[in-house]
Amino acid sequence: MRTDMTKAIRPDPISENLFGTHLTSISKLSDAQLFYLLDLSQYYSRLSATNEPIPRRLAGKTQVNLFLENSTRTNVSFELAGKKLGADILVLPVAASSVHKGEELRDTSQTLAAMGADAMIVRNKEHDTSSFIAEAFNQTKISCSVINAGEGTQSHPTQALLDALTILNSLGRKASKGLEGITIAICGDISHSRVAGSNIELLPRLGAELRLVGPENFLPSESIHPEIHRYTDLHECINGCQFVMALRVQKERINSDLAFSETDFHQSFGLDYETLKYAAEDAKVMHPGPMNRGIEIDGTLADDRDRSLILDQVTNGVITRMAVLDALLTNES
Ligand code: CP
Repeated sequence: MRTDMTKAIRPDPISENLFGTHLTSISKLSDAQLFYLLDLSQYYSRLSATNEPIPRRLAGKTQVNLFLENSTRTNVSFELAGKKLGADILVLPVAASSVHKGEELRDTSQTLAAMGADAMIVRNKEHDTSSFIAEAFNQTKISCSVINAGEGTQSHPTQALLDALTILNSLGRKASKGLEGITIAICGDISHSRVAGSNIELLPRLGAELRLVGPENFLPSESIHPEIHRYTDLHECINGCQFVMALRVQKERINSDLAFSETDFHQSFGLDYETLKYAAEDAKVMHPGPMNRGIEIDGTLADDRDRSLILDQVTNGVITRMAVLDALLTNES
């Protein structure tokens, strides 16, 4: 098989430039901005595939990772993305910081920005943290781009972007073609998942048919997303789907009065080779991680690189975050 070694071509700048803006949710991005971020991600994918040198577009810029909740993939991938582009990176050691002396988040973030941060990457368990910090920066005329790195149970925009990139690349499609004709199922603990929240905002905008499946008490209310099909039967839902995304059962967010058995969940909603037979031929499985092997996904299937895109999602996390940092921190116009 010949390897495609076509050189990477940077997309043309767009008039709705993202320079100096914040990335707090998918819904705040225009279509032009969304497609630009995906185009730029594919440019960085191509640079990586062809081993071309990565331009140090963030040389002289400072990036602060402010992670108030645990993370492996997002924290490390943002750090790697910034380093590859030449930024100086500070990962705040939260446990040893004044956050634990009761300092307000507004003061912690403004203090870090006043030290010269150009970007602040924020992870927190509370909804709307990144919007709150972005608003505080706007009020105090601090020019530092805030990026939501996952917050609450609703929003993880860079995860949705990397998931879309993974699907596009797996199909060999240019971002500009979108996901028309593609059917994607998201399975399991939808209502507690920030990943599902952002993918619900993104994938239909790219033209995909999106389906949700899980136990009734893990599904968002029909009134919230009336346009998206909801299922409580896994086989019925994934019938014909080309991509099936399992979500982590978020044990820490499940209320103790919600009846939940891991064994029952795996039997009804766990992905394995048997259940995958109901999906399209050669359907791919995805998972944002971290996984509960044997609960929402069978470990052997998760590790099967012919059927599983899970490690591609991780790789694309670095790529997508390079694109996001580049778009927000460099001015091309
Ligand atoms: N997918 C994801 O957000 O993983 P981390 O919690 O490890 O960052």
